[in-house]
Amino acid sequence: MESPFKADVLKGKVALLTGGGSGIGFEISTQFGLHGASIAIMGRRKQVLDSAVSGLCSQGIPAVGFVGDVRKQEDAKRVVESTVKHFGRLDILVNAAAGNFLVSSEDLSPNGFRTVMDIDSVGTFTMCHEALKYLKKGGPGRSFSSGGSILNISATLHYTAAWYQIHVSAAKAAVDATTRNLALEWGTDYDIRVNGIAPGPIGDTAGMSKLAPEEISNKAREIMPLYKLGEKWDIAMAALYLASDAGKYINGTTLVVDGGLWLSRPRH
Ligand code: HXC
Repeated sequence: MESPFKADVLKGKVALLTGGGSGIGFEISTQFGLHGASIAIMGRRKQVLDSAVSGLCSQGIPAVGFVGDVRKQEDAKRVVESTVKHFGRLDILVNAAAGNFLVSSEDLSPNGFRTVMDIDSVGTFTMCHEALKYLKKGGPGRSFSSGGSILNISATLHYTAAWYQIHVSAAKAAVDATTRNLALEWGTDYDIRVNGIAPGPIGDTAGMSKLAPEEISNKAREIMPLYKLGEKWDIAMAALYLASDAGKYINGTTLVVDGGLWLSRPRH
């Protein structure tokens, strides 16, 4: 589908995306690139990164991949520094890396719980922490009048409760709290906008195929106001809106992009 945004809304910007080589992260990488940004992607699997980077480059997007795990502070630091070394600055950090599996609370080991907290929550904070000095106003390659921005990919699971997702619900609740607190502190001190996106069920993603077997998604469709799954494109357009000047007065919000699903109830 054609983008409603002008092709230069992110012209001259440099974006670093964790989990940017696959799924929703890759679609955001692509759309940011098609709208003028240079793209650095971070992920654990070199093969996935290589194929993502060549996909971006084949569309004329300046792109580079760095292998790293957001659970390791030294990886986060190295990848942020390498991005700035490669492209000269950093304007947008997107935290899209996430871990997930379906398991009942009874069967989930504390280490399984911790693993997802480490990836989603601590990983998000670690990336933000390492990126701060480059994103703040007056940081390398940037003027003293404007800071960069951060986008944290969240979920809607924790607005209510979700079967077999206690670890992810807890982790994404922490992500949302991190979004708000950094928006307050870094918005005030450094002119950095920090926002989130909470996707609903998005077709053709690892999350969907892992978490929602077909019978569940068919059932979900019965109560969804828009009666359909979202597309990765929908999330990427929301990301463009928040990361571009269109969203310049938006700070500390997590935009729900789910067709209204989390509000849905069966009709009686
Ligand atoms: C129960 C599990 C498990 C499973 C791992 N564990 N998989 N427990 N069921 N299926 C437990 C392990 O037993 C172990 O605890 C602990 O978690 C760490 O496991 P490892 O395999 O050592 O960890 P690691 O290799 O680091 O892998 C972590 C991972 C990750 C979370 C499994 O590799 C992963 O999920 N990758 C896929 C990424 C993904 O699907 N992304 C899409 C996210 S979608 P013990 O106690 O045994 O040591 C998304 C959408 C959310 O986030 C919103 C949906 C609506």
